[in-house]
Amino acid sequence: MEKALIAGIVPAKLDTEVGKKYMYCTCGRSKNGALCDGSHAGTKLRPRAFTAQRERSVICTCKKSAEAPFCSGSHRGLSKADIGKIA
Ligand code: FES
Repeated sequence: MEKALIAGIVPAKLDTEVGKKYMYCTCGRSKNGALCDGSHAGTKLRPRAFTAQRERSVICTCKKSAEAPFCSGSHRGLSKADIGKIA
């Protein structure tokens, strides 16, 4: 089974349009780590749609958030050495 990878150790702060739908990267392979760029191709992982509630969204890149796609603080304690490891 394919596992998500830790794409980053801090959340991505994105300018988002309230009410607009975005696709959250769940695989950790996207070049930007936060939003899907199609890099999940070849895995069984799929992006997760979410609708922005704010003009600035704090999006999880570590793939450990219990509140994904939003950051829950679960990235605390990770280091650069964790990037690319299984989340
Ligand atoms: S970046 Fe994943 S919980 Fe904060």
